[in-house]
Amino acid sequence: MRSKMKPIVYVTRTIPEVALVLLKQYCEVVYRDEVPPPKKEDILKNVVNVDAIYCTLNEKIDKEVMDASPRLKVIGTMSVGVDHIDVEYATSRGIYIVHTPGVLTETTADLAFALMLASARRIVECDRMIREGKWKLAWAPTMMLGYDVHGKKLGIIGLGRIGVAVAKRAKGFNMKVYYYDVTRRRELENELGIEYMELSQLLKESDFISIHVPLTSETRHLISEKELRMMKSTAILINTSRGPVVDEKALVKALKEGWIAGAGLDVFEYEPLPPDSPLVNLPNVVLTPHIGSASYDTRNRMAQYAAEGIIKILRGEEPDNLYNRDVVKIRALHSVKMI
Ligand code: NAP
Ligand code: GLV
Repeated sequence: MRSKMKPIVYVTRTIPEVALVLLKQYCEVVYRDEVPPPKKEDILKNVVNVDAIYCTLNEKIDKEVMDASPRLKVIGTMSVGVDHIDVEYATSRGIYIVHTPGVLTETTADLAFALMLASARRIVECDRMIREGKWKLAWAPTMMLGYDVHGKKLGIIGLGRIGVAVAKRAKGFNMKVYYYDVTRRRELENELGIEYMELSQLLKESDFISIHVPLTSETRHLISEKELRMMKSTAILINTSRGPVVDEKALVKALKEGWIAGAGLDVFEYEPLPPDSPLVNLPNVVLTPHIGSASYDTRNRMAQYAAEGIIKILRGEEPDNLYNRDVVKIRALHSVKMI
């Protein structure tokens, strides 16, 4: 039977134990202990009486879901990206959104760099060649040639937390680093020795381009045919942000027709990537299944951070991982107490 004192949180799918233990101390937990994400109808059924939803980036938390949950105070997502949540509607309804900024920054930057090195040096192609028994000559002057990473020019699109972490790694590789962002960050330019460029110039100059913007209406298809055609034919595109930031159809064309040399992709317009996607058959692409933050330590930290954010909101405190800070004003305007 439900304890009268404890708020209810619906956890949409299996999460690390550390978060579950924490949530259970303060909440009654409706736990869907299954690895795949729930169907929309399951979400709608389960959110009716809850105070909080603990979700991941695969669950669309839209107006319909929030309307089905009249008591909802807080949505906690085990992700830094919040493009799966209707932020504007949540804010207008005084619903808090907490997410996981910072704790996954270094792990995701590691993956962006791994994709850069793997694409440039054809690591996956080489591995495949050996496993398929196609390594016939011990060494040859022209075998499996790729591109240097050290000393080259890296263009970062979106100099936020992850963009900065990638820039720091690039400096260790003696790379020249350019960036484009909606906000110019002069203090970081001096601190990191990096240079601001307009997007078109960055696309033309860079040997590697790494994308780190959130998915918004402004960034959807930020990189389309026009932008891909501006890149060098020897350039490599890395995307660990969100798939729809790149027009995938145009990217396939660019890779097939040699407008650019290669790509390293962790995110796709449709996930999981359909097995018949043309990307699967292109040798000049390295593909990973949205694993930017997928290390043991980081996934535990993310799970815990999202849980802590939910608990703080439910206890009337303001957590540092509150995403929609405007909600505080909205609630004050309507004189809604934090619980
Ligand atoms: P962040 O700190 O908010 O950085 C994003 C940067 O992009 C900010 O500097 C932001 O500027 C800038 N930006 C926003 N809109 C832009 C636009 N239209 N044009 C140019 N720049 C723009 O976020 P983060 O923590 O680095 O994470 C970035 C994204 O990576 C997340 O939103 C998520 O989608 C993705 N991600 C993916 C994985 C993975 O598993 N592959 C893991 C973690 C994160 P302002 O701050 O001025 O808006
Ligand atoms: C992963 O993609 C995240 O946004 O945390």
